[in-house]
Amino acid sequence: MIDAVAVAVSVGGVQALEATDLSAAPGEAVAVVGPSGSGKSTLLRALTGVQVPSSGSVTIAGVVVTALPTGARATFRREHLGVVFQDPELLEELSVVENVALPLVLAGLARRAAVARAQEQLRSMGLGDKAEASPGTLSRGEAMRAAVARALVSRPDAVIADEPTASLDRTNALAVARLLTANARAAGVATVLATHDPDVVALCDRVVDLRADAHVAHV
Ligand SMILES: Nc1ncnc2c1ncn2[C@@H]1O[C@H](COP(=O)(O)OP(=O)(O)O)[C@@H](O)[C@H]1O
Ligand SMILES: [Mg+2]
Repeated sequence: MIDAVAVAVSVGGVQALEATDLSAAPGEAVAVVGPSGSGKSTLLRALTGVQVPSSGSVTIAGVVVTALPTGARATFRREHLGVVFQDPELLEELSVVENVALPLVLAGLARRAAVARAQEQLRSMGLGDKAEASPGTLSRGEAMRAAVARALVSRPDAVIADEPTASLDRTNALAVARLLTANARAAGVATVLATHDPDVVALCDRVVDLRADAHVAHV
């Protein structure tokens, strides 16, 4: 469960995000839409605890993230959240399966077990044959799916994705959006994704629109 109440962010005197409410129940996928500069990334950074709001509160899985000190927010993010960005941001020095296993290793799982679980995650997403590949040899779509695998492998309580399909062709964009929304429903995970894409919005359960004249969440 994600519950953001009246979250506003100002950076250096500039209002990056006006007071915004957003909630996502377990199993629900919520799309955040709005033109470039409307505050989508700022809102998502507030949800992940990377950005401390100037007012309002963010509660995820019963924890008031906005009340945690910096170090505890980082720990909470690592232990409870899956995060996906517009770029895959895979580490070139590691194989694909090692990238996907990394959150599990950081969480303290033994390397062998982490790799086995990462392998299974990749298989479930049609990337089993790419496990040993170097990230640089993947197509853009495959790399994004690997990034989604890395976000989901630790079975997070909530998933936050900032324009995860923006750099993909139609087929891959829909594939990535379907992976995220299907995971939301199958695993009962509250999922928030920022997008410009009406086809991606259509796969979500609800929309939060950050346009200046649309400050109310609508169905
Ligand atoms: N760290 C920052 N410093 C200054 N301005 C920022 C910062 N982060 C965001 N902004 C401003 O806040 C507004 C919202 O940005 P952003 O959240 O990136 O929008 P979006 O993701 O919808 O394109 C923009 O006007 C942007 O320039
Ligand atoms: Mg953005």
